[in-house]
Amino acid sequence: MAAQASRLSIFISRSLPPEAVARARSRADVDFNDVDAPLPRAELLRRLHGRQGLVCVITDAIDEELLAACPELKVAANVAVGFNNIDVAAATRRGVVITNTPDVLTETTADFAWSLLMAAARRVVEADRYVRDGRFTQWENMLLHGGDIHGKTLGIVGFGRIGRAMARRAQGFGMRVLYQDAVAADAATERELRAARADLATLLRESDFVTIHTPLLPETRHLINAEALQRMKKTAYLVNAARGPVVDEAALVQALAEGWIAGAGLDVFEDEPTVHPGLVGLSNVVLAPHIGSASADTRLRMANLAVDNCLAVLEGKAPLTPVNPEVLTRK
Ligand SMILES: NC(=O)c1ccc[n+]([C@@H]2O[C@H](COP(=O)([O-])OP(=O)(O)OC[C@H]3O[C@@H](n4cnc5c(N)ncnc54)[C@H](O)[C@@H]3O)[C@@H](O)[C@H]2O)c1
Repeated sequence: MAAQASRLSIFISRSLPPEAVARARSRADVDFNDVDAPLPRAELLRRLHGRQGLVCVITDAIDEELLAACPELKVAANVAVGFNNIDVAAATRRGVVITNTPDVLTETTADFAWSLLMAAARRVVEADRYVRDGRFTQWENMLLHGGDIHGKTLGIVGFGRIGRAMARRAQGFGMRVLYQDAVAADAATERELRAARADLATLLRESDFVTIHTPLLPETRHLINAEALQRMKKTAYLVNAARGPVVDEAALVQALAEGWIAGAGLDVFEDEPTVHPGLVGLSNVVLAPHIGSASADTRLRMANLAVDNCLAVLEGKAPLTPVNPEVLTRK
């Protein structure tokens, strides 16, 4: 479909809930990829060319090359809170507004990270397989012992929106909460969430569960490396529902295989959708295909927020959740 000069024009790079596409269509000329798979790069550039707005997802690299190829672009609205797929500095230099979808996915993602934590500790996936394999022929006292969750210590690395939502859940399980963050939470938040700040080494040493909720940044890449994993308790579990490269996956494979830690729950991978072959053969890790925010309600809220952000910029209004608001004030 060709963009009409008189109308706002948007490209949506990936299949979204139909309500969100209709929302965009009600106010703009829209072309969209209706397949839930990434477009070949050349097709993305061709179909985006000449359009002012892009609604994109984490598998789209919004980089210097794309920005140079699409000089009419005014806004790229990521359907995610994380934006490590976007060269924000390059976009800012070119005056392109970047937006993300914070808040609307916080509780859903924490629900899923908590599910991974529980599934890993109580061996839910192994138990399911055991029953399906026809091995449940008698009750056994010593069968599938896991780790307790209630009353244990939860270590939260990255105490932002999702990290704090994990701390709220921990209260219901009577857990002690430690957190590590580049920024200290205020005293009222620490009191309300009964959370104490610790340095990473202390958190790793004292926690029964370590859950990662930092963005992927140069300084968080491989934050959980072999040294960090060796600091953890042998009985501890690692949960990563943030971004894969925050954990050194090869080191994690070794840690799980050699019993440095008891288990892990992973929603994200270092080179996804490729999963380290060493993980696939291990029974003490629960694996999920990056579905932390994937509830029907939340995926719709995320898509609607991205569409609203995109339309707002094109209509000359302030977007709800800009990543580089300095572009707006410069205009
Ligand atoms: N699995 C999924 O589907 C899924 C869904 C949503 C979000 N995420 C990921 O979760 C991340 C967190 O989301 P959020 O909404 O809580 O973000 P947020 O910005 O509210 O929280 C991130 C926290 O990490 C802290 N941080 C930054 N650098 C750090 C460092 N070097 N060491 C320790 N802490 C550091 C920040 O100060 C902040 O408190 C996102 O960036 C995204 O990558 C994944």
